[in-house]
Amino acid sequence: MTPAMKPGRILLTQTQIRARVRELGRSITPRYRGKKVLVLGVMNGALFFLADLLRAVELDDAQIACVRLASYAGTQSTGLVRGLDGLDEECRERHVLIVDDILDTGRTLSAVTERLTKHGALDVKICVLLEKRRPREVPVRADWTGFKIADEFVVGYGLDYNGRYRALKQIRVLSNDPTE
Ligand code: IMP
Ligand code: MG
Repeated sequence: MTPAMKPGRILLTQTQIRARVRELGRSITPRYRGKKVLVLGVMNGALFFLADLLRAVELDDAQIACVRLASYAGTQSTGLVRGLDGLDEECRERHVLIVDDILDTGRTLSAVTERLTKHGALDVKICVLLEKRRPREVPVRADWTGFKIADEFVVGYGLDYNGRYRALKQIRVLSNDPTE
C-alpha cells in the first residue's frame, strides 16, 4: 500500500508569511496609487493571500474580483485552464493586478494575462505568493513574488492537495514519510 500523502515539514511560518505580505503591500501601493485598478484573485488558492494582501496595500478604491480556475488534478498539472468566462467586462480600461498563490508551469497565469489583455485591460501585472524554481512551460513572469521555493508540492495558506489542507496556517511540504 502506498503511504498517505500529508502535510510534512514547515516551509514557511505564519510569521514569515505575514511579514512578507506586508512588504509586498508596501511595494505594490505606489504602483497603483490614483489609478483605476482591478485586483483579480485566482480562486481558490489565492483566498488567504488575496485577503491579507488587500489589507496590506493602501488602495481603498480598488475593485476586487475573483476567477475560479482549475488546472491541477492531485499533484499533476493537467494543462487545461478552465473558468475564464465572465472576466471581460470587469477588466476593461483598468490596471489589473492578478493575485495567485503560486507560479508553477505558468499556464494558469499566462492564460489569464492573455485573456485580460485581449479584452481591454490597460495593463496586467502579476503578484504571486510563491514561485517554484523550475523551468516554466510557457513564458510568464511575476512582477511581485513573495518567496521562491524548491520544486516541491506544498499545501496550506490556501494551497490544497485534492481540496485538502487549504486552511493550514503555515505552508508545508506534502510528504508521504510517516515519520514526518
Ligand atoms: P501553473 O498553471 O502550473 O503555473 O499552476 C498554477 C496553479 O497550480 C496554482 O495556482 C495552484 O493552484 C496549483 N499548484 C501548483 N503547484 C502547487 C503546489 O505545490 N501546491 C498546491 N497547488 C499548486
Ligand atoms: Mg491556483
